[in-house]
Formats: sequence, C-alpha cells, structure tokens
Amino acid sequence: METETSNNTNVEDTTSTTTTATDKPQQQKRKKAIKPYHRIKAHSNPLSDNDFNYPVSPDKMDWSPHYPQFLKDHPEKRVEVADVGCGYGGLTVSLSAALPDQMILGMEIRDKVVQYVDERIVKLREKETDKYQNISVLKTNAMKYLPNYFYKGQLQKIFFLFPDPHFKKANHKRRIISSTLLSEYAYVLAPGGLAYFISDVEELYLWMYKHFAAHPLFEQIEDQQILLSDPCIPLIINSSEEARKVNRIDGKKWYAVFRRITEPRIINKTN
Ligand SMILES: C[S@@+](CC[C@H](N)C(=O)[O-])C[C@H]1O[C@@H](n2cnc3c(N)ncnc32)[C@H](O)[C@@H]1O
Repeated sequence: METETSNNTNVEDTTSTTTTATDKPQQQKRKKAIKPYHRIKAHSNPLSDNDFNYPVSPDKMDWSPHYPQFLKDHPEKRVEVADVGCGYGGLTVSLSAALPDQMILGMEIRDKVVQYVDERIVKLREKETDKYQNISVLKTNAMKYLPNYFYKGQLQKIFFLFPDPHFKKANHKRRIISSTLLSEYAYVLAPGGLAYFISDVEELYLWMYKHFAAHPLFEQIEDQQILLSDPCIPLIINSSEEARKVNRIDGKKWYAVFRRITEPRIINKTN
C-alpha cells in the first residue's frame, strides 16, 4: 500500500504496521480481550497527534487484511459505515449483526484502544468463525484523514457516539464536529447517507446539533416512523461503552440523525 505519514516526509509501505483483526490469530491465548485500564491516555489531542500512516488516496488502501473473509466472499464491497472515535468498539461490534451486508470500520486515535478493539474482533471471529467478518478497526485521526480512506460518496452511515466534549472554549477546535469537518463528512457520505450523533453532555449535543442544522448539505430526520424503524437507533443509545456508562448512572442522552442531501439547502441565517 502506498502511504504517507502525517508530516508528509515519508512514503512507506505500512501493510505490516496496519492493525488488523486477522494479522495475529495465533498470538493471543486469552479468551477475552482485556481492557488495559491504567495504561491508556484518557484523551488524545487530535490537533497535535501526528504519528499516523495513511494512504495517499483511497485507491492505495488495501482493505483485505482488515476484512479477509468478507472481501473474499464479496470482492466488490467497500467500507460503507464508519464509527468515528469508536473507543472500545461496542457499537462497531453490535453493527456487525445489524448491518450484515455492509463493511463497518471503527476509527480510533488512541493506539492501545485500537489494539484492544482489534484483539476483541480476533477473539470474536475465533469463537464464531462465520460472524464478525464485516467489522474492523483502524488507528487514525478521523479529523484529518477521512478523504485518504474514502472516496466521495462512499459511506452510507457515519456515527459520532459520545465524542470527547473538550469543555474549555479554547479547546472547542478539537471537537469532532465543526462546520469545516461537516463539509468533509458530507464529502465522504453518499447522498441519502446518514450521520448519527449522541451525547450525554447537553452542551456538546447542542453544539453538534447547531452545526449540523446550519450546514447546507445536511437535513434532520424528524419523522419518528423512520427513526423507530431504524435498527441503528437502539444501538447508538445502548451499545457503546460510553452509553453503558451513562446507563449505569441513569444519565440523560441526547441524539439526532441527519441525512446527507444532494442539493445544498438555503440556510436562513436569522433563525
Ligand atoms: C468519549 S470516547 C467515546 C467512545 C465510543 N464512541 C463510545 O461511545 O464508547 C471518544 C473516543 O473518540 C476518540 N477520538 C477522539 N478524537 C478522535 C479523532 N480525531 N479520530 C479518531 N478518534 C478520536 C477518543 O480516543 C475516544 O476513544
């Protein structure tokens, strides 16, 4: 695979360094992936983390180590679902059965968390060989490299579950949702594709909502019938590790779903 590092000085083959659920089936004898609680940075600064390899363009990305069996069975398929900031992978894993025909990718910036999810997928595949072939995880900074991995209009769904709130005003630029980033997400989403977001921090939810509502290429899905029949809604509310944490303390959650539209909307700035 032809790749670049983020300081743009190197072009190297990273096939061997890409973390995949299938590279090391014999390596671990443990039954379950174990969360390395005390060795992980709680947060990563997405604006300064520069230690990434990434393909120079989507056609240089080799997905076969990520989805070996699925791509053998369906060589025409591409990744269509991205779980941005997937953390420990609860949603990515749950989506496997909910969207069995789609390739799902968890994207995560913290190295050890990626290793954990990778190991988790290996274990799941070992246990049930016919399942979990359509999910994988990738170490990347999703604020910077989505267009390196995905073609225009490639994704059908993109998820932002309980993103880091970055409370301080000076750190709002680290938030995963902004006007500029929404244009990038609109680029990789297919017309009609869906963006889901949820938070237990009302201020952050309102921030994300405000930015989506103000973006000309997104419109909110308000029809309850559509939302109620969407199998992803219960998963965004309950399947991720953060969602479960919030459930344990009986906390509140706010979510919304926006559709990527084809023709830019005219935004009434006075509203
Ligand atoms: C609060 S956690 C939520 C994890 C997961 N979505 C969940 O609901 O359990 C936010 C995650 O986003 C990851 N993250 C933050 N910025 C990121 C970025 N720019 N690219 C990829 N992952 C990022 C963090 O490392 C962290 O694991």
